[in-house]
Amino acid sequence: MTARILVVDDEQSMLDFLQLLLEESGFRVTTASCVEEGRTQIREGSFDLVLCDIIMPDGSGLDLLREIKQQDSRMSVIMMTAYTSTKTAIEAMRRGAYDYVSKPFDVEELKVIIQKALEKTELVDENFYLRRELEEKYRFSNIIGRSRPMQEIFELVERVSRTSSTVLLEGESGTGKELIARAIHYESPRSSHRFLSVNCGALPENLLESELFGHERGSFTGAVREKKGLFREAHKGTLLLDEISEMTPAMQVKLLRALQEKKIRKVGGSTEEPVDVRIIAATNQDLRQLTEQGEFREDLYYRVNVIPIRLPPLRRRREDIPLLVDFFIKKCSTGMGIEARRISVEAMRILESYHWPGNVRELENVIERALALSEGDTLTADDLPAQILEPTPPLGEAPSLPAEGLNLEQYLDEIRKQLMAEALDRAAGVQTQAAEVLGMSFRSFRYYAKKMRLGSGGFPVVEPGD
Ligand SMILES: Nc1ncnc2c1ncn2[C@@H]1O[C@H](COP(=O)(O)OP(=O)(O)OP(=O)(O)O)[C@@H](O)[C@H]1O
Ligand SMILES: [Mg+2]
Repeated sequence: MTARILVVDDEQSMLDFLQLLLEESGFRVTTASCVEEGRTQIREGSFDLVLCDIIMPDGSGLDLLREIKQQDSRMSVIMMTAYTSTKTAIEAMRRGAYDYVSKPFDVEELKVIIQKALEKTELVDENFYLRRELEEKYRFSNIIGRSRPMQEIFELVERVSRTSSTVLLEGESGTGKELIARAIHYESPRSSHRFLSVNCGALPENLLESELFGHERGSFTGAVREKKGLFREAHKGTLLLDEISEMTPAMQVKLLRALQEKKIRKVGGSTEEPVDVRIIAATNQDLRQLTEQGEFREDLYYRVNVIPIRLPPLRRRREDIPLLVDFFIKKCSTGMGIEARRISVEAMRILESYHWPGNVRELENVIERALALSEGDTLTADDLPAQILEPTPPLGEAPSLPAEGLNLEQYLDEIRKQLMAEALDRAAGVQTQAAEVLGMSFRSFRYYAKKMRLGSGGFPVVEPGD
């Protein structure tokens, strides 16, 4: 493809000379004889590179440079001037010029500079498209969910991505919190900047502090190099604070300060620096409850809980399971370089009725494992792991009598309640089905459900006939 070059210079002889020279070298050349004309050409045409004089009768080439960069930061601009002034040269580079030549210039040298600039543009373009591809990857098309709760979440995500508000993502492990966080970032005006994440539970307090805020060289043993810190690295982008409930009280105070002031101070640093970062916090705990129990600072809770998004566990949106199964069969097959397989009706039914404590991540793992093990072109129940075929009740270890003794009736009631809640969940609230799973009559199920106020905890009880 022929590169298009715009030459802006008030001297007609210079324009003629450069046009001839560059067209001979195989470029398509357009000329403009003043700042205003250059501006018009930039607006109307599309160029790969601009050669621009600095001092022109109707204005400065430096202003034009700034406008070009604002309009398309990827366009390379080479500045030309009649006399050498390092100050202007530095100013031009600072404003984003690719390079700088002083007249009269060496023709061969100019050609080399132009070639280099164009090669760089190509590279920049490639990165640009790579990023676009990444964006595609995190668009909603890759987040599966046709169920009502997921549709509501997509709508919410779309609305919040337009803002810079802090988002709190709550949900059990494996429900897709990180996926949603990325979608928010890549749907937002911040998408051309970075999305970074840190697991607040994985690092001891002092390391987390320098990870987040950076540190000066020599500020503590082991700080051999200066560190920028995630807040600075994610400047203008998004930072995911994963497992935020795991932060120590002292770190909570430091984070609160940073969020309030929108300024951060490096470990061992003496000055504060402003940062512009969108914060998304994620947790698989009930952060409100932790706050009420005094384990999480209340002021910080209100800071991060600006827009809460609660991801439902997979067992609360079973209608999405077949879609997810198809999605993961395709995704994993592609990853493993094998033909996509089908799945038997029986296997699908088993997957649909399992309670998925590990949520979508567990489902993905099960599919991947089944694909790796299966021989035929259809996944069957035999390809599913034992824990799914014979789910054990979620009671933890076998009960044993504590040293101090216990109240058996109360204990049994508690177990009954747990299992009934689980069965209701699995039956999507339909009591007759839940009763059947537990081998109880509907009447006695209803009796206990009422007594224990089951179903009042946010999950509607569906009476037969509803
Ligand atoms: N709705 C979905 N559609 C497609 N894939 C999903 C969906 N939800 C989760 N996944 C996949 O499941 C896996 C777990 O998701 P993710 O890491 O976002 O969960 P998480 O909530 O952050 O879990 P944890 O609390 O354990 O960190 C990922 O591979 C993710 O791509
Ligand atoms: Mg996660």
